[in-house]
Amino acid sequence: MNKSKTFFLNIIKPFNFISNKGQEEEEDLAKITAQEQQKVFSFETLVAATRNFHPDNKLGQGGFGPVFKGKLANGEEIAVKKLSHTSNQGKREFVNEAKLLARVQHRNVVSLLGYCVSPEKLLAYEYVANESLDKLLFKSSTRDVLDWQRRYDIIVGVAKGLLYLHEDAHDCIIHRDIKASNILLDEKWVPKIADFGMAKLYPEGQTHVNTRIAGTNGYMAPEYVMHGNLSVKADVYSFGVVVLELISGQKNFNFNLDPECQNLLEWAYKLYKKGKGLEILESGLASTADPDQVAACIKIGLLCTQFDHQLRPTMSRVVLMLSRKAGTLEEPTQPGYLGSRYRSRGTTSSSSDGMSGGTRSQSRSTFTTTTTAAGTLSSDRHRTRRGSTSRGSVSDPHGKRPMR
Ligand SMILES: Nc1ncnc2c1ncn2[C@@H]1O[C@H](COP(=O)(O)OP(=O)(O)OP(=O)(O)O)[C@@H](O)[C@H]1O
Ligand SMILES: [Mg+2]
Repeated sequence: MNKSKTFFLNIIKPFNFISNKGQEEEEDLAKITAQEQQKVFSFETLVAATRNFHPDNKLGQGGFGPVFKGKLANGEEIAVKKLSHTSNQGKREFVNEAKLLARVQHRNVVSLLGYCVSPEKLLAYEYVANESLDKLLFKSSTRDVLDWQRRYDIIVGVAKGLLYLHEDAHDCIIHRDIKASNILLDEKWVPKIADFGMAKLYPEGQTHVNTRIAGTNGYMAPEYVMHGNLSVKADVYSFGVVVLELISGQKNFNFNLDPECQNLLEWAYKLYKKGKGLEILESGLASTADPDQVAACIKIGLLCTQFDHQLRPTMSRVVLMLSRKAGTLEEPTQPGYLGSRYRSRGTTSSSSDGMSGGTRSQSRSTFTTTTTAAGTLSSDRHRTRRGSTSRGSVSDPHGKRPMR
């Protein structure tokens, strides 16, 4: 090669590089666009898959709208969620959020396969064969399929799924509605968290600052109920409730095993303090359960549901704690719930969150007044589909709090 040719090649080298890189980027973009195209379902496809949303295909009805089972032309089974029209989110924002959510991939999180934006907003999820935990756990005819090992695996799987949403997904995703009906079980009983990102599809501005309330009675952290303060610790609280529900087979809300206790958390904490924590274990599980695992899970459930959100562990700590013995874990302080009294340094005091109250009925009225004063809940909460407020006044079968 002569000198002038070498000189010329050296000069064009960087341009060559740029054009190759540009080509690669273009190819990448094309791939991403193609992938995103796959996420868009035509309305007709989902109508055909669900036999025009046939009532026989209906899996259930949640606060956001009904869910239908469907089958795509290639045989793949899906679950289609028809979003109700109450979300005032624009189509563009909906598509952007749905695209981001479709990128969320974890063994313990339900995959969003795609979406449809017009004429109706629909979300298509992978179909999870054994459906939701609540349908099994709270029915005497079905709860026996959940032996201790399965329940323990569900606890560990949900903890890992939540850890992923909080720390490893593209953005920190606060679920805001962790509960038994949002934990689905696949054919191998692997738990999958459903309905993550509804907070993003029903937008409300910032997370972990004051926000509108949307969640389900019995699962919501007190600081979230009272002030709309949303942080990862609100999810940790709901996770703790699910853990105690899995151990006891009892619902936190509508608890009636002990007339002295208004909910499962109060009961579990009372027994724990008496050194009888293991008594909350569902009787049918005693023969299969590993007492060390049960004891650790009870303590973790109580640590996660502590009144003081700063004392609650993060999900990464929870995952660590699940491999430890109960004796090595810190002592839980009082759980938080509507009407709970926060004891600090041995005295019973009104909490700064206005959560205290002498009797249960008093504390309920304290709650109502305080919440209204705080301006976080609208007065229409009694009549909206997300409208029940406290135990005994359930007007909404989903036990939802309102989102204005
Ligand atoms: N991907 C899925 N695979 C199988 N079943 C599903 C799936 N998604 C939802 N379901 C079923 O549909 C039912 C209704 O779900 P949906 O999420 O609408 O209601 P919910 O969880 O009770 O309330 P929320 O609106 O608060 O989430 C669930 O109880 C579950 O059994
Ligand atoms: Mg749900």
